[in-house]
Amino acid sequence: MDRKAEVLNKEEILEREEGAKILDRTENLNGNSSEKVSPAIIDLHCHILPGIDDGSRSNEQSLEMAKQALENGIRTICATPHLPPKDRDNFYQRAKLILKETEILTKEQNLNIQLYMGFEISLDYSLITDKNLSNYTLNQNGKHLLCELPFGTSLKLAEKMFYPLRLDGYIPILAHVERFISSESEIKELPKLVDLGVLLQVNAASLVGIAGNRTKKIAETLVNSNLAHLVASDAHDQKVRSYLPMALAYDSCRRLVGEEKTQELFEINPALILEGKTLEEKEQLAGIKKESF
Ligand SMILES: [Fe+2]
Repeated sequence: MDRKAEVLNKEEILEREEGAKILDRTENLNGNSSEKVSPAIIDLHCHILPGIDDGSRSNEQSLEMAKQALENGIRTICATPHLPPKDRDNFYQRAKLILKETEILTKEQNLNIQLYMGFEISLDYSLITDKNLSNYTLNQNGKHLLCELPFGTSLKLAEKMFYPLRLDGYIPILAHVERFISSESEIKELPKLVDLGVLLQVNAASLVGIAGNRTKKIAETLVNSNLAHLVASDAHDQKVRSYLPMALAYDSCRRLVGEEKTQELFEINPALILEGKTLEEKEQLAGIKKESF
């Protein structure tokens, strides 16, 4: 591990300890934010499927997570387990089956939540030649790929890796972009990615300070400067990395940028993405958002 990565790791540990204290306080809120939260939040990044990655470990836990999502205003979820770099197709087939089983379980429990299939893909060059790449898009829409960067990857390298995907017509979404920025000056690199057509996703937990003050400031700057395109939970469980921050982040965003922009980040843009549309196609927004009400 190089020196920079080591320093970042230590800082991250300190930030997470600080964030854990905030999380303790948010747990006491029992998932209800102080103000009314929109009942139509669409979460495009979470690990709710049981037993497939480092997210939910069991059907029971997935059901707890689904309940918590509903309590926090989320009606639509795109489950995005970590797609492994090898044997992707087998993983895809397995994930689809688990999604179907989870849908049945939520219906049996009368949990009124819509589930869609997606993946969180660790970006590497082998993706570009994967003949099944379209399967790994969100809601299999053939367009949007939720991508995370391997730890330590620079934004410049990310740009090189995203470029061929854009040439092939895909729209990459950089997951929890704030994690890859170690200083506010690095934010200046982001407009190049956005100009390339990459969308930027911010984690709700970062916006409410659970990942530390530095990450919170970066996340807020991204929202304030119109660089963020969507906010998602990246929930892995119902306790430590949960859906609780979504309602809190919704309130924070409303205070930062107002109601209209907040709806874009939590509802409208995610709905367009699920439908495989560009964010400029708002007027063509059809079923998914309506179904959520
Ligand atoms: Fe994730």
